[in-house]
Amino acid sequence: MKIENGELSIIHTPLEMQALSQNWQKGLSIGFVPTMGFLHEGHLSLVQESNRMCDVTVVSIFVNPSQFGANEDLSSYPRNLERDLQLLSKHKVDYVFIPKAEDIYPPTYRTWVNVTGISEVLCGASRPGHFTGVATVVLKLVNIVKPGLMFMGEKDYQQVTVLKAMLKDLNVPTTIIPCPIMREADGLAMSSRNTYLKGEARQQALCLYKAILMAKQLYREGIRDTNMLCEAASEIIKTNKGEIDYIEFVDPETLAHVGYAEADTRMILAVKVGVTRLIDNSLIQ
Ligand code: PAJ
Repeated sequence: MKIENGELSIIHTPLEMQALSQNWQKGLSIGFVPTMGFLHEGHLSLVQESNRMCDVTVVSIFVNPSQFGANEDLSSYPRNLERDLQLLSKHKVDYVFIPKAEDIYPPTYRTWVNVTGISEVLCGASRPGHFTGVATVVLKLVNIVKPGLMFMGEKDYQQVTVLKAMLKDLNVPTTIIPCPIMREADGLAMSSRNTYLKGEARQQALCLYKAILMAKQLYREGIRDTNMLCEAASEIIKTNKGEIDYIEFVDPETLAHVGYAEADTRMILAVKVGVTRLIDNSLIQ
């Protein structure tokens, strides 16, 4: 059964959200899409999937301060609540949870979720503490919204891997449904941060996707040595004046480096284009 109230309800307090979820849990399936807002087609594809699979869809909008490093873009992170609400309304979302930072992290706040190992490599190595902030806020949101299914984008492949491990380790009865990466027509993975890409940088940003396509082509031609794949990908990034943070070929579950690429190997990369740090990933096959 789908709730059809035709109007977007905005919930601000964790207590109010929890009370609603507790009620729904008695007979309805709850789908959850956590976001930091400034919504694009990538976010909306998760909403569509949740609408398709669940009775009630809750979207959260919360720019989580604890996942930003001291020198990162917390204060300049793009925000446009009015536009977000319009988009969610159009996409038939019933409930939007928009908590205040002080309700998520009151002055007494002291509990942090640390998923060891897989949080410390790749983006975790360049952004220390980032995944502790992500795991903590997502566990809090899950405890508030109580979803059976949580819809997340493979765009943030490491995030999905870390959160799957967290839910499993802590016996949380929520299943993550990973959803495919939505791209612009030219291949750039959609991201709220793409708004930072001005002028020449927008074109240069294509180097991540070009590097992925190159590695996939070489794989099809029979090259399995990930050093060779990595070199070819690096060439493309450098030609486009991108600054490589990492290009890795990893096991899809452990995120451990693989030397020999196989059908399930993930290519995953982070590149700075001008001032903007971009990430992307793909199956190598
Ligand atoms: P945010 O960057 O707003 O992303 C919210 C969700 O949208 C994530 O699951 C992300 O993977 C997904 N998403 C982003 N771009 C996408 C694309 N191009 N295609 C498909 N899905 C895409 O990720 C976060 O927020 C935060 O870390 C959060 C989980 C909300 C915790 O604060």
